[in-house]
Amino acid sequence: MKRFIAAQLRKPSGWFGLLVMSPLLNRANRTLVEKTLTVLGIEPDHMVLEIGFGGGLAIAQASKRMTTGVICGVDFSADMVRQSRRRFRREISQGRVRVQIGDVSQLEFPAASFDRAFTINTIYFWPDVMRGFSEISRVLKDGGRIAVSLRPKNKMQKFAVTQHNFQLYHPTDVAALMTRAGFRDVRVHHEPSDKFYDDVVVEGTK
Ligand SMILES: C[S@@+](CC[C@H](N)C(=O)[O-])C[C@H]1O[C@@H](n2cnc3c(N)ncnc32)[C@H](O)[C@@H]1O
Repeated sequence: MKRFIAAQLRKPSGWFGLLVMSPLLNRANRTLVEKTLTVLGIEPDHMVLEIGFGGGLAIAQASKRMTTGVICGVDFSADMVRQSRRRFRREISQGRVRVQIGDVSQLEFPAASFDRAFTINTIYFWPDVMRGFSEISRVLKDGGRIAVSLRPKNKMQKFAVTQHNFQLYHPTDVAALMTRAGFRDVRVHHEPSDKFYDDVVVEGTK
């Protein structure tokens, strides 16, 4: 069962992914989504990329902050992409939202396409973290900003599911990796709490 839940967190799919994981993720990650979007400083005309949107809450919340801008979501779960195409049918037809299948290791966008890029609770599953950062850097414009949001290792390791194919990180590890990838002004936003898990956002600038 733990392996199954871990696999669903990595790549939600089938009826369980659609009916259980997707609403659960949207509920559990609401404060982290809001914190991420605030740190990113999205402006109404920005081109914004989200990698690994899952249930799509951050796409919905980001699009509320934008007028002429576009939020593009990529996720490597075909079922999450199909679900978001239905959910955002209206915004997609208005050209305000785009969703497509894609992997952080190979983003199907030209260089310098985005003003902002973010990813929430996905870094644990990236097969090659430096490759992921290099791809995000490639598609960001100079001066563009990145936010990588996660739950810290000290909290996550208490959950048995994270023993199955999760790579857990201390916030400072992520900051060091982002600096190594060439991002500047890297900052960790983290107020440790006594809750089950803390919200962490690590931001950087290309
Ligand atoms: C734990 S869920 C998080 C969903 C959402 N960001 C949230 O915080 O509620 C991880 C999501 O990232 C996607 N994902 C994982 N690895 C990915 C990769 N290498 N490239 C693109 N999407 C990925 C999964 O399909 C899933 O939808």
